[in-house]
Amino acid sequence: MGKRRVSPQSDVWSRRAFLRAAGLGVGAVAVGGLPRALRSQILPGTIAQYARPARLTLTAAPSTEQILPGGATNVWRFTAQRLAGPYDTVTPIPGSYLGPILRGWKGQRFQIRFQNNLSEESVVHWHGLDVPPSSDGHPRNAIGPGSFYNYDFTIVNRAGTYLYHPHPDMLTGEQVFRGLAGLFIVHDAEERAAGLPKGACDVPIVIQDRRFDVGNQFLYNVGGMAGFLGDQILVNGVPNYELECYTRAYRLRIANVSNSRVYKLGWGDGSPMIVVGSDGGLLESPVEKPYLMLAPGERVEVWLDLRNKKVGDELLLKSLQFSAQGPSGGQLPVNGAPLDIMNFKVVYQQQETLVLPPYLSQIDRYDVNQAVNRDNPRVFQISVVDGMFRLNGRLFEMKSWEPDEEVRLGDLEVWEFRNDSSGMRMIHPMHTHGPPFQVLERTIDSMGAANYETVRYGYVDEGWKDTIMVMPGERVKVLIKFTHFSGLYVYHCHNLEHEDMGMMRNYYINP
Ligand code: C2O
Ligand code: CU
Ligand code: CU
Repeated sequence: MGKRRVSPQSDVWSRRAFLRAAGLGVGAVAVGGLPRALRSQILPGTIAQYARPARLTLTAAPSTEQILPGGATNVWRFTAQRLAGPYDTVTPIPGSYLGPILRGWKGQRFQIRFQNNLSEESVVHWHGLDVPPSSDGHPRNAIGPGSFYNYDFTIVNRAGTYLYHPHPDMLTGEQVFRGLAGLFIVHDAEERAAGLPKGACDVPIVIQDRRFDVGNQFLYNVGGMAGFLGDQILVNGVPNYELECYTRAYRLRIANVSNSRVYKLGWGDGSPMIVVGSDGGLLESPVEKPYLMLAPGERVEVWLDLRNKKVGDELLLKSLQFSAQGPSGGQLPVNGAPLDIMNFKVVYQQQETLVLPPYLSQIDRYDVNQAVNRDNPRVFQISVVDGMFRLNGRLFEMKSWEPDEEVRLGDLEVWEFRNDSSGMRMIHPMHTHGPPFQVLERTIDSMGAANYETVRYGYVDEGWKDTIMVMPGERVKVLIKFTHFSGLYVYHCHNLEHEDMGMMRNYYINP
C-alpha cells in the first residue's frame, strides 16, 4: 500500500492530499490544497473569545470511513457542532474517524451536550481534565441510545494535550476501538509564550493499533488477558502515515489512544528524543531520552528539529523492541515487538528562527513532607485472582467503595501502585480521574529487573501525569492532591480491556 501524505500547509489534515497519496484515484491535487471553508474553521480565537463559554453538541453515532484501499470501514464516530465560542473550539480531522480536536483555554467554561446515537449506552470522559464529578463521565452516568447528557465544567488544568473518550462500564474498550476518541487541547498564557512551534508546526499524533478482516472491517478479537493488540498501526486514523514537513522545528503532541498496546518510541536514525511535555502539559525544561515509553492513555510532547535536513530526507518514528512478560496466547505482534509508526518527509525548504527554549514552564513541586501519609502510602496492589485483574483484590462496583478508598479534599497524599504480586505479570498503565499527580519514586523487584532495563530510560516522570506505566515487578509512588472538587471518581488500569474486565475502582473525595 502506498503512503498517505499530509500537507504541512494546513493546520488540519487535507483529505484530498491523503487520497491522492494513497493512490485512491482522485487525481493530482496540489499539496496544501485546503479548501477555504476549512481554513476559516481553524482561525485561532482571540483571548477575549476564550473568556466566553464554549458551547457545543457532541454526538456519537455509527458512520463509515475510507481507511484502507477498497471498501470503507464501519466506524463509530464523534462529531461536534460549535454553538458558541471561538472558531477553533472544534476542528474536525478530514479523512479520519477520530473525533474533532476540541480546544480551550485554562479558565474557559465548556458546556457540552452529549448526544448518544449509538445502539448501546455510553458516556464521555475528559481524560486528564479535573472536572466536577457530575461532568466526569463516571460509568454510573452512562445514558441509553437516543439520550443526551449535559456537561458543564471550567478548565482548571494547565495547558496540555488531553483526551476525550467513552467510559461506560464494560463497553469502553470496544467503543474506543470502533473510533470514539479525540484530543482535547488546552492552552494558557504561559504555554503560548514558551516559544514552541505553533500552527502547522504543532502536530497532533494519535497512535492506535487495529485489526481488519478481509472486508476491511475492524476486528475486535480480544483474546485472553493481554487485551486487544492489533497488527496495523494507524496514526490519526490513517495507515502508513506520512507527514510532509518543512525544514523547521515541530512540536509533536503524541498520544497513545490504543486499547492495550505500549510503544517504545524512537527515531529511525537513532537520535535522542527531546521531550518538552507530558500528560499534564509542558515540562520545566526540555529533557533528552534515548527513547520514550508510552502506555495507553499517556501523552508526550516532543521537539523535532528538521532545520538541518534537506528536501527529500525522511525520518521514521518507530516503536522499538522491549521485553515485558505477559500472558501467553496474546495476539501478534505482542507488546514489545518492533513496529513502524509513521514517517516524516522533508518536502519544503524554509527558514526557521525558533530555537529550543531552555525554559518551558513552571512546575510547582509537591513536597512529600506535606503529605498526610508521608510514611504510610495508600497502596493499590495489582493482582490476578480467579482469572480477573483486581485492585487490592477487588473488582469494579458501580456505586460503592471501601473505607481505604476515601480521601479528604485539600489533602496531599502518597499513592503507591504495586505490580509485584506473583502470578500473571504484565504492564498496567494506572490512571486516576480527578486531579493529576507527580511521580515520587519507582522501584523494581529482582524478578522484573532484566525486562526493566529495556524500558526504564524512556519514562517521562518530570512533569504532571494522570496515567503512569507500571512494569511487572514495579512499584510507583506518586503525590496526588485533591484540590478542586469533592465526590466520586474512579481510578483504573488504562489497558481498556483490563478496565472493562473490572480493573477499576471508585474513590471518594470527602468535602
Ligand atoms: Cu482515559 Cu478513565 O480514562
Ligand atoms: Cu481519565
Ligand atoms: Cu491492566
